[in-house]
Amino acid sequence: MDLHRLESEKRAKELKKILNKYSYEYHVLDNPSVEDSVYDGLFSELKEIEKKYPELITIDSPTQRVGNILKEGFKKVEHKTRMLSLNDVFSEEEIYDWAVKTENLAGQRIDFFGDIKMDGLACSIIYNDGVLKRAVTRGDSFVGEDVTNNVRTIKNVPLSLRENSKFNNFLKGETEVRGEIVILKDDFEYINKKQIEKGEQPYANPRNLAAGTIRQLDPSLVSKRKLTFIAYDLIRKEKTDIPTNEEAYEAILELGIRCNKYAKYLKNPEEVIDFIENWSKKRQNLAFNTDGIVIKVNDKKVFNKLGIVGKQPRAAIAYKYEAEESTTKVLDINISIGRTGAATPVAVLEPVTVAGTTVKHASLHNSDEIERLDVRIGDTVVIYKAGDIIPKIKNVIKELRSEDSEKFNYENALKKQYPALKFKRSEDEAIYRLVGDSGPFLLSSRIIHFASKSALDIDTLGEKNAKLLVDSGLVNDLADIF
Ligand code: IVH
Repeated sequence: MDLHRLESEKRAKELKKILNKYSYEYHVLDNPSVEDSVYDGLFSELKEIEKKYPELITIDSPTQRVGNILKEGFKKVEHKTRMLSLNDVFSEEEIYDWAVKTENLAGQRIDFFGDIKMDGLACSIIYNDGVLKRAVTRGDSFVGEDVTNNVRTIKNVPLSLRENSKFNNFLKGETEVRGEIVILKDDFEYINKKQIEKGEQPYANPRNLAAGTIRQLDPSLVSKRKLTFIAYDLIRKEKTDIPTNEEAYEAILELGIRCNKYAKYLKNPEEVIDFIENWSKKRQNLAFNTDGIVIKVNDKKVFNKLGIVGKQPRAAIAYKYEAEESTTKVLDINISIGRTGAATPVAVLEPVTVAGTTVKHASLHNSDEIERLDVRIGDTVVIYKAGDIIPKIKNVIKELRSEDSEKFNYENALKKQYPALKFKRSEDEAIYRLVGDSGPFLLSSRIIHFASKSALDIDTLGEKNAKLLVDSGLVNDLADIF
């Protein structure tokens, strides 16, 4: 017997074990115990051994993530348990009503389990005796596509389940883990930065990119795309193995798979509403894009008893937040002069709905902000609501800018809009203010505001007449109008 081979076999086993441990610490605990370079060093050592003794390569070796190109496309695979989707609701009342109605239908007191809704694509990963066997997309809920080769390249998907004390029996037989494949916000930004550097079009959004990536026939391309899998369900043939959704999440983590640590047991409909409200602001800080919250009946027996209508289970629902970002075009940039004489640029937008209301203007604050965004008339921009009230421009989609676009010149625009007035920029605030005798101008704008529809609504007292009244000396302050 080759002594080197025996030693190498032992060493390879140890290396796999420790590499899996590092990977789990990194991807699931979010708490790596070593530098990346340590992982890389040990990974190379394992690769060397496997090169020398190819018979030592196992299907779950971390070196075996990237397989061969699929020539014949994806095989169809039938799901053992249907992969359902969810009904959407858009208001807290509807969620509350659903919770109460579901309790009545169940005929017993029920509790719930809430999780963030990830905006990606659904995937089922099947482990047999603890080793990743197959990964399948949702498809039409009955039959999906076999994307095993591609899912194996996702670094946070363990190729074998982690040994643990509480759910070790799940390493026997079939354990199905379901979840969402996403591209994290940071990764998406990085990918788009690279695209632009290469002179190529950036991708529109992470979900479409993730969906497109999973359908690539070449796994080596997939491995470069930085996909992430986040689980939300676990299925065992023996139903008593996982009595509640809460335990499913606990098992998922114990088995070494990422799920959301924010997912939460919710005692009653009131706690469901609290959970939704709590995440409505905080969700912006999550690592992935979300468009809502998923609420499920916690007890799996009750869940199944409640049944399915169409493609949706009665026992779960998705609360959707309103879109908080939209894109639109900048039609013009207007500068308005406030009552203190400060000039504020405002983008005039093609009307667009953001977080439930129509937006036609966005404040640009000051000339520095225009400079920072490099926003120009004609640009396509991303609009968001700051603090959910004031619409703001997040960024310009420069790739969609027309070739003849011109940089916005703030001083020229001021001169053009107010040829008779003089402005001075204050160094500390980056704000232009009226200088000299700005009294008449301010007075007439005050009168216009005062007489406008939203105030006193005085017919015939518009811009022209206000100016006339001031210039002729008939009105010297606001009270003179009466
Ligand atoms: S639970 C019976 N939890 O949203 C289906 N789904 O529109 C139970 N999704 O099909 C699904 N995040 O692909 C669940 N935390 C989450 C989710 C989630 C995203 C997806 C999933 C589902 C779709 C429904």
